Amino acid sequence: MPTEFISLTFPNASTEINPIPNPSIDPDYLVRYARTLDDYGFNYTLVPYDSSYFDPFTIGATIASVTKNIKVIIALRPNTLYPTVAAKALATLDQLSSGRVVVHFIAGGSDAEQAKEGDFLTKEQRYARLEEYIRILRRAWESAEPFDWEGTYYQFKQFSNKVRPTNGTITVSVGGSSDEAYRIGGSLADIFGLWGEPLKETKEQIDRIYAEAARAGRPGTDRPRIWVTFRPILAETDELAWAKAHRTLDALTENRAKGQGKAPAGAPPPQNVGSQRLLDIAKRGEVQDRALWYPTVTATNARGASTALVGSPQTISDSILDYVDLGADLISIRGYDNLNDAIDYGRYVLPKVRQALKERETGSAA
Ligand SMILES: Cc1cc2nc3c(=O)[nH]c(=O)nc-3n(C[C@H](O)[C@H](O)[C@H](O)COP(=O)(O)O)c2cc1C
Repeated sequence: MPTEFISLTFPNASTEINPIPNPSIDPDYLVRYARTLDDYGFNYTLVPYDSSYFDPFTIGATIASVTKNIKVIIALRPNTLYPTVAAKALATLDQLSSGRVVVHFIAGGSDAEQAKEGDFLTKEQRYARLEEYIRILRRAWESAEPFDWEGTYYQFKQFSNKVRPTNGTITVSVGGSSDEAYRIGGSLADIFGLWGEPLKETKEQIDRIYAEAARAGRPGTDRPRIWVTFRPILAETDELAWAKAHRTLDALTENRAKGQGKAPAGAPPPQNVGSQRLLDIAKRGEVQDRALWYPTVTATNARGASTALVGSPQTISDSILDYVDLGADLISIRGYDNLNDAIDYGRYVLPKVRQALKERETGSAA
């Protein structure tokens, strides 16, 4: 499988370093951002989910209608949509976009966040429900006959689906770093999403996911593809990139102190294991491996993907290739200055990584 690039969808010009208070969707910005990703050869854009945020399906449909190639990854929490409804909504968008839909499942990493939309299950139950949910969606996409379901979380009779995905099914992604995430994602997902950790810890996580896939009886040829997420801080030289990294950190710290950060000042560590792992590793030092930078993790209380890669296009490209060598073949990169960073990555990082991979394939000198 080729190495592919993922970005994150932004519906307006607000960024973590220059936040706009209570921003609404800016349709022109959304279209421009989506077309930029498409033009520069990103393969996917994740449309995230949050209890207080916009609707990913509508945003995803808008992106699909103004782009040609990029695939839209819809983030979906099972508690928010009955599974048969989700199966049809995803397949509808998949038909509208000629097969450009992926679904990224979020079991829910925070009890308080889940409670905001009426979900009071324990984390273990949320993952058990996710397992049932994925099985129902696959059956709904693929079954030629009406079917009944008698599960723990869902029961229905004679569901018959006439909205089929363009290519027969839809790619399923699962994200997380807990034992339950490894088990459900390893056994059922086509893609497994991780946040950027040092090479050693990333390798350990990949091994855990592959072990769960093997335990579920999946052959080595059918393991989840690994997605790793970074927040590159890119400049012409390493020196300029480090100066930019410190300016970025200052802005994140000031904004959080003013109450404009994603996490309030003095917030306790997040409940999800992925964020806790990032905060633990941050205690070991600022830089890991080539250029993986952790102060942005601490400054934001690890709310979401927050590890930076800092450096010139060469350093960032070499760092990404380190992860490709570990087995990651979906690389998510988004910065802190969203649109400008997407353009910079499209001009300087994607071609460099792709060129290096091509040279490796053809055996010519890198
Ligand atoms: C690549 C990636 C993307 C994610 N996107 C979202 C998202 O859009 N919304 C959300 O609430 N959580 C998102 N998450 C968070 C996890 O899925 C979440 O923390 C999970 O429910 C449980 O975490 P845990 O198993 O690590 O404890 C994402 C995680 C990863 C790795």
